[in-house]
Parts: sequence; structure tokens; C-alpha cells
Amino acid sequence: MKKNKGIRYVVKKDGKFWPSDVMKKVVNMTDERIYDKAAKNPVKFWEDLAREGLTWEKEWDKGYVEKLPYFKWFEGGKLNFSVNCVDRHLSHPDRVALIWVPEPTKEKPIKITYGELYNKVNKFANVLKENGVKRGDVVSIYLPMVPQALIAMLACTRIGAIHSVVFSAFSADALKARIQDGKAKILITADGYYRRGEPEKLIDKAKKATEKTTVKKIIVVNRIGKKVKGKKFLDFDTELEKADSYCKPEMMNSEDTMFILYTSGTTGKPKGVIHDTGGYAAQSYWTCKWNFDLHPEDVMWCTADIGWITGHTYAMYGPLLTGATTLIYEGGPDYPDPGRWWKIIQDNKINVFYTAPTAIRMFMGVDSKWINECDMSSLRILGTVGEPIDEKSWMWYFNKIGGGRCPVIDTWWQTETGGTLINVLPGIGPFVPTVSGKSFPGTEHVIVDNKGKPMPKGRQGFLAQKSPFAPGMLHGVYNNHEKYVETYWKKFKKMYDTSDGAYLQNGLIRITGRTDDVMKVAGHRLTTAELENAIHDNKLVGDCAVVPMPHKIKGQVPIAFVVLKKGNGSKKIEKKLKEYVDMKIGPTARPGKIFFIEDLPKTRSGKIMRRILKALLIDEEPQGLMTLINPDSVGKIKDVINANKGS
Ligand code: WTA
Repeated sequence: MKKNKGIRYVVKKDGKFWPSDVMKKVVNMTDERIYDKAAKNPVKFWEDLAREGLTWEKEWDKGYVEKLPYFKWFEGGKLNFSVNCVDRHLSHPDRVALIWVPEPTKEKPIKITYGELYNKVNKFANVLKENGVKRGDVVSIYLPMVPQALIAMLACTRIGAIHSVVFSAFSADALKARIQDGKAKILITADGYYRRGEPEKLIDKAKKATEKTTVKKIIVVNRIGKKVKGKKFLDFDTELEKADSYCKPEMMNSEDTMFILYTSGTTGKPKGVIHDTGGYAAQSYWTCKWNFDLHPEDVMWCTADIGWITGHTYAMYGPLLTGATTLIYEGGPDYPDPGRWWKIIQDNKINVFYTAPTAIRMFMGVDSKWINECDMSSLRILGTVGEPIDEKSWMWYFNKIGGGRCPVIDTWWQTETGGTLINVLPGIGPFVPTVSGKSFPGTEHVIVDNKGKPMPKGRQGFLAQKSPFAPGMLHGVYNNHEKYVETYWKKFKKMYDTSDGAYLQNGLIRITGRTDDVMKVAGHRLTTAELENAIHDNKLVGDCAVVPMPHKIKGQVPIAFVVLKKGNGSKKIEKKLKEYVDMKIGPTARPGKIFFIEDLPKTRSGKIMRRILKALLIDEEPQGLMTLINPDSVGKIKDVINANKGS
């Protein structure tokens, strides 16, 4: 029986989907003129939004100051981020701020009200202070999806410490590199977490990562009941209980760094993307309010892990800033069965559901009875993020999950942009499969050629952002001004280079994907360079190249071509190298396949022609063989690929 009925928020007109009259009645923003109004004076527009949406201790002197490649929003303004997320909702202390769903079904979900969250954040802020954390210090957080992750992050913002969250599936080596870059004195982690029914240990990786680093104390959440002994270790909940229950919020300048979040770099070293306080808050708040139409009584579930920007902004900060309820889930999407997610939606009456195309594609392959059995009539808005979504997956999501009654909001953005920037607003429409939409009011994106000149309408080009840059945009790369300039500001004059390709379709932006070496593997961002670097470090490897290959569910998977220093490759060496990648970065980066070859195709100047490898993988005729110093290599690689077909 199909239970997925409910209010119809979408209607079909002229072959397109539009918000229905009911949607227009309930939604926060329905007026299309907002785009023109904002474009007339974007700075004033954002000033008005920041004033209306946030609580400031002191208003700013200047709305926007630009001295490229840097720019500032709300200069002179003072605020505290945790006050905006928690304290100001205390007029409703019993409203639920957070629902935590543990993976084991025998454990009950935990609800934390705004009143309780206030208490816990204050206490943990005092724990941090007692352990010597001061304003401006970096705190590393290596936690799974548990409530303590949110408490720890908010506590940092309360005292003006900078949090640096590292994805819990990253390896000890990856964590260590990030700790070293930020010089954290404190690491907050857990003994482990549950994944597909098994306890995953985290603490061993945390111990290894902190050897010979600046970390003096490790605060550990007890999740799987593992005993952790040693002078360095403190128990999260015991310390929290002991602490004083009030911590005066530190008033921060709008421009002060609130957090750093690392993304893969074009070399082996990850880049610490810097986000400020006031600008990030303004964009997080308003994108939640308008894209996801969040009202305080809504429950939002963003399935992203807290270790990624989507987890920061939409599993946590955005919903809390708006005073709504956010749900986080600890475990595997199809554990103990493929009905788990849909049951979570049903049981918690989720109104706004936000996930990635890779998850949608995965569920398209399972028996639809798991979905049809659940009552998802509470849903009002569906969102997607992370990679282009194809029409078939969009329609499946729209019909199967949304019952054909909820808009799918395809949000384009990046770690660097802090919050969403290109999408259609649910009260305005139209909702067109595969098309993201318009620049968020008060921001502007253009499609240009490689010199920055506008492309003729409808032609594909590079996506760039124009001044004034969105308030949530990055404010630099931690400890690396050159990288910041080189990555984002070198290609175009006075425009931010997104590194994405796009074109206009009936006035709406359609994203075509990255134009650099960034891959999206099951929604996780990774560069081929970082992976090549990791493989290169192995003593067996002489040379190596990594290219992404299209994958039905994951979107892309990395494929490695390896030249061994000596001897031939084997299944055993392939396994060894894959495990080596797990150790260097984490299983998310593990190559789908490793081909052992004699020689990589290179130009006279020694540049590896990855384009040729890509063509060979997808069975296309490789172009540009003339420029190679070793054209013979190509035929031999093809033979290796053919010999491995089906393996
Ligand atoms: C891609 C994730 C198409 C894009 C928030 C971008 C998308 C990169 C979309 C950033 C979308 C994100 N349609 N592509 N709706 N959203 N992307 O930093 O290539 O993990 O540059 O941030 O994801 O990935 P990141």
C-alpha cells in the first residue's frame, strides 16, 4: 500500500513544476521581485537581512569593504554565534533543537531541547576554558554523528575558539596533517561509533594522529563503552557534568574566524578554508529560511556528515539559527534494512529533507516496498547537493520520496561558499530537473570564457562570482595566502573562480561539473592530486596517475595507474596499495581499481596526460597522441585495461 500522500506543494503548468497555491501561502518567500530589489543594492540588501535575522551586540560601521583578494562583511559589528543559535531561542526552552537517532535500533532516539542545549553548551564552553582554550585558539574535533559534536562546536563559538572538524572516516594520517596545520592543543573525539551494526573504533586513530603534535589533552565521548586510560584523556560527559553552568559569551568581531574546514588541495596538502562569524551566520540563516523555507516548528534532516560543509551549515548551524529542529543520524543509510531512512522521516515527521544524488541513486536500486511502506506525508521540501543530478534520479526523488508533491531544490554551492548560492526558491519556482537555478538574491554568478568574458547565452563556460562577494564566502586559506590567491583569484580579474562549468538554460543556471582535478566520490570531495600523492609515498611505487571514472551510484570513482619501481603488479599488491590509501587518507579515497602499467603517457615536458587515460577508461579514442614523448605507452595501457575488464 502506498502511504505517501499529503499536501500538494507543487503543480504542473506548461510542462514545468511550480509552487502550488498552498505552497505560496505557507512559504517565507514568494515575491520574484526580490531578485531585482537585491541586485539594485546588494550591500544594503544583506545589511537589512543581517539586521533582521541575527542578534548583534553592536551594529557594524561598514556593511562591506573590499580590497581584493580579501573582503569583509559587517565591519565593526559584534556578535556571538552561539547566542544566535541557542540563547535567543530560550523564549521557547522546551522546543526540540536536536533529535539524535543512534544506529542500533534497540537504542532510543534522544531529543535535546533548546533549554538543555543552552545548558550543555555553556558547560562545555567552561570545560574548554578550564583546559586552557582561549579566544582565537584552534580546537580539533574528530567526532562521528553524535550530539556531543554539535555541543562541542557550539561551545567553541561561545568562547571564540576556532573549530576545525575532521571527518571521522578520515585516517590518522589525514587527521594529523590537519592538527599540525591548525596547531590545536585540544582534540575532541570519541571511543568509536556504530556503522552497519559494528562498533568502529576511533580512539586508536586519534591516539596515533596526536603523537608528536601540539595536542596536550584529548576529550573523549564514550559511545561504544571502550575504556580509555591515560593522563592525556578526559571523559566528555564527566567533565561536562562537573563544569559551571554559565559561560559568558565572548563577543566576536563579525570578521573573526569562526571555523576552518579542510578540503583536498591541488598538491598533497589539504587547504584550510577559513570562515568568519557574521557573514557566515547571515548566509546560513537566510538560505535556510528561503531555500528550505524553515520555520521554527519545522524538523529538518540534512543527511550530510558533520565533517563536511553541508553538515556544518545545514545539519546544524542553519536550522539552529532559525530556531527549528535538526535531526542527525549516526549510522548507515540502509542499516538494518533499506527502509531505515524512510522510517526516520516517518517517525520524526521530517518536513525538509536534504541529501546527495549518490544516496538517491543508491536507493533507486532497492525494492520500492521499503519506501512505499512509510508515511512521508510530513515532507514539504526536498533538497539535493554535491554533484549534478541527472533527470531520472531527480524524477525518482520527486515522485518516490516526495510523492510528486514536494519541490526538489537543487542547491549548488561549495565548502568555500559556506552556504548555498544557486538554486530555485520553493515559493517562486520553476523546479526543473537537472537545473540548479538562480543566484541567491544579493549575489551574482556569471558564465564566462577562460579570460573572464561573458559567454553567449546557452553556451557552456566557467562559473564565476561577481562582487560584492556573498557574505558566507571563505576569507582565505589558513596559513597560506598564496594558495588562496592562486586557487580562487588568479584566473579572472576581480571575480571568484568557482572551478565549475555551467551554462544558462532558459535563464536558469545548469551546472556541468568541475573543470579542475576535484572529484566527487559518493558526494565526498577529493582531488586526484591528493590521492596521487598518497600512492606515490608508497615505497613500491615509481610513478602514478589518478583519474576519475563515471560510476552509476557513486558518481565518480578514482582509478589509479601505477608504475612499480620493480616487478609486475598483482592482486596482492593492488590490495596492499588500497590499504595504504585507507591509511593515508581514508576508505572514502580508496581507488576502485589499480592498473599496473609500464609507463604513463607523458608530454616532452614530463606532464602526465590524464586526458588520455580518461579516454581509454571509457573506451573513447584518445586525442593528442602527437604531443607524447612515449606514444607506445597508450596501446600497452589499453591492453592492460582490456585484460582486466570485468575484474
Ligand atoms: C559540486 C558541497 C552540481 C560542484 C556543498 C562544487 C554541485 C563542489 C552541486 C563543491 C549541485 C555542489 N549541482 N554540482 N547542486 N552542489 N556541487 O566543497 O562541483 O564538498 O564545486 O561542497 O560540488 O563540493 P564541496
